[in-house]
Parts: sequence; structure tokens; C-alpha cells
Amino acid sequence: MERRKYLQIPGPTNVPNRILTTLSKPLINHRGPEFEELLTNCVNGLKKVFRTNNDILMFPSSGSGGLESAIVNLFSPGDTIVVACHGLFSERLALIAERYGVNTIKIQKEWGKAIKAEEIEEVLKQDVDKNIKAVCLPQNETTSGISNDIESIGKIMKESGHPALLIVDVVSSLACLPFETDTWGVDVAITASQKGFMLPPGLSMISISERAWKLTEESKLPKWYWDYKAVRKKMEEQQLPYTPPTTLLFGLKESLDILEEEGIENVWNRHALMAQATRNAAKAMGLFLFAEPGYESDTVTAIYMPEGVVFKEFSNILKSKYGVVVGGGLQRLQGKILRIGHMGSIHELDVYAVMGAIEMSLFELGYKVELGTASKAVSETFFKYLI
Ligand SMILES: Cc1ncc(COP(=O)(O)O)c(C=O)c1O
Repeated sequence: MERRKYLQIPGPTNVPNRILTTLSKPLINHRGPEFEELLTNCVNGLKKVFRTNNDILMFPSSGSGGLESAIVNLFSPGDTIVVACHGLFSERLALIAERYGVNTIKIQKEWGKAIKAEEIEEVLKQDVDKNIKAVCLPQNETTSGISNDIESIGKIMKESGHPALLIVDVVSSLACLPFETDTWGVDVAITASQKGFMLPPGLSMISISERAWKLTEESKLPKWYWDYKAVRKKMEEQQLPYTPPTTLLFGLKESLDILEEEGIENVWNRHALMAQATRNAAKAMGLFLFAEPGYESDTVTAIYMPEGVVFKEFSNILKSKYGVVVGGGLQRLQGKILRIGHMGSIHELDVYAVMGAIEMSLFELGYKVELGTASKAVSETFFKYLI
């Protein structure tokens, strides 16, 4: 009997059946009226999720492509930007910028620690000539399971009077964590299909403010595929400049309908609750969270591997016996932590299943835990909110 699978890595995430069905629809002409309607619906739906009136562009690419697109469209060689670096993905953004000859001022933090608004304020204060063109950071550093407080950062940047743009990587947080592009003053927000949108990978989606559009006029970095101005022009005709991933757009439309039916605030609250239950179960089992307290991510929980338990052996049991797949640590965290993705299509009983399977697998490997601890902690969390 084929068993139900739980893909609890921090993206790609489980794809709901409603979306899977849509992904098998026959293709349409991407230069015809049906596509025009599809693209219009997707853009309108995305504006509601980004909470913005800004332009939305999309690219057939993974999230990293979306990050690169922001660099090549906004900057010129020799420009200076601030990049928060506290995990693989935030450091990747700095790397992309440096490859293109953009100077980066790095706010380097230990992996697992959050970036604070005061740290950004300090860097901007020191820039008396106002040379810094942008501040870039992720809302959610997937590597370490921490979230940054973008609302406070946006507020401090506005109050500082510094003209730097705020560029936020929301790849592992949009449609999961509260995010307010316009109210928080986010100029460019970049996301991808395979996390909160519950789709296969392959589509990046970006919102661009009027202030950011002004910077595109000055940018001298070469671009063709990523050219925001060319894409905007074509999207005004409800097309893309090249062959779009039409199938992913069918899926995106369905995903946006699902999110709208639930209500985006309810989606945020559900993520917060599933994350709370996950963390409570982990702590009840005597495990230690990797993230700085108070900044734990509501889309991915990073947990130290307990002494004496090897990640590979643990994840093999978890997958082969229970059908649950979790993520391991990346780069310097390899073997040191496990990461549970709880984003997108994640509901109460999934948390019991995943945390119960984790408990059983650790127990089998000799970890001392009283069986039933995880599910008790999950029930106690849900009891407070659901009954
Ligand atoms: C926060 C964040 N930024 C960027 C990326 C890169 O996205 P992709 O792997 O789709 O290129 C990821 C991927 O997990 C991510 O979590």
C-alpha cells in the first residue's frame, strides 16, 4: 500500500490535491486571451498576498533568480548596498551583488541570530553622504529557522530619512508570515513558488515600488532575461517576453484561490499555531531550538541534533518507517541541526504525525524520551487555541 508522504523540508512543500489536479490541465496559447485572463488573475491575487499596490513581475526561475534580478536591475558597478548576512540565503544575496561589482557592507551575524532594526539604523547613521543605495535582508532565514522583524526595520528606515531602498527576500515567508509590503515600506520583495504558495519550484514573483523603479533608470548592469522594464512592458499586454511556465500559472491561480478562501490573516495565524505546536513538542522532548529566542521562525523550526544521534541515521528511519522527510543543516550546520518545514499546506494532524514520528525515530536511536510526550505537547498547544 502506498503510504502518505510528509515532505517537511523547508520547501518545496506538500502540494495540495486541488493544485496537483490543476497542474495536469492541457496547455493553452501563451499569446492568446485565455492566458491574458490567467496572468491578470494571478497578478491581482498576488497583490493581495504581497499586500501592495506596487507592480508585480514574475520570472520563470527559482528564488535565487529573483534575487539576482533585483541586483542587476537596481544597481551599477561601484554602488554600495547593505546586506544582512546570517545564513546561507542572506549570504547568497551578498555573493550575487559582489559578482556584479556592487560593494556590500555586510552586517555579519552568527547563523541563528536575528538582524535588529538598531543595527541597520547604526549603519545608515554612519553613511553621512547617503551613498548606500539599499538595505537587503530576508524576512525568514531558512538556514537557521529565524525571522527578522521587517516591520521595525521598515519603520526605522523611514524615520532615519535615509533614501536607501528596503529589499526583502520573502522566499520562505510570503503567504505564511504576516507581511505588509506597502505599510512597512518594502521597496522590493522577492518570493518563489515552492514554499508558501504550495507549488512546484520554477516561478519567482517580485513586487517593485515607485522608488525602486526610479533606481532602474540609473542601473548600468547588463541584463536581458531579467530586465524589469522589458518584463513590465510585456506584462502590460498580459504576456511575458518569453515562453512562460503556463502550467505553474494554472497552479498559482488555484493557490491564490485557496489562500483567498482561507483568508490571508487566517493563513498567517495557522502558520503561527502549527509552529508553536512544533516548538512546544520539541522542547517537551528535551530538544533545543537553534534560533535566537523571540525570533523563531513560524515556517521552519531548526533543532539541535541530540548528542549521540546521527542526522543521517535519524532521517533514514523517519523516512523509511514513517514517510516523513525533514531537512538537515546546510553547510556549517550539516549534521548539527534538523529543520522541520511547516509552511503552506500544514494542518493540525500533520503536526501530530511529524512530531510523533520524530519522537519514535529518536527513541529508536536511544534518545531518552517518554513516548507520547510530543503528542501531549501538541494537544496542549491546540487545546488553548482550538477548544
Ligand atoms: C530565504 C530564501 N532565499 C532564497 C532561497 C533560494 O531560492 P531557490 O532555491 O528557489 O533558488 C531560498 C531557498 O530555500 C530561501 O529559503
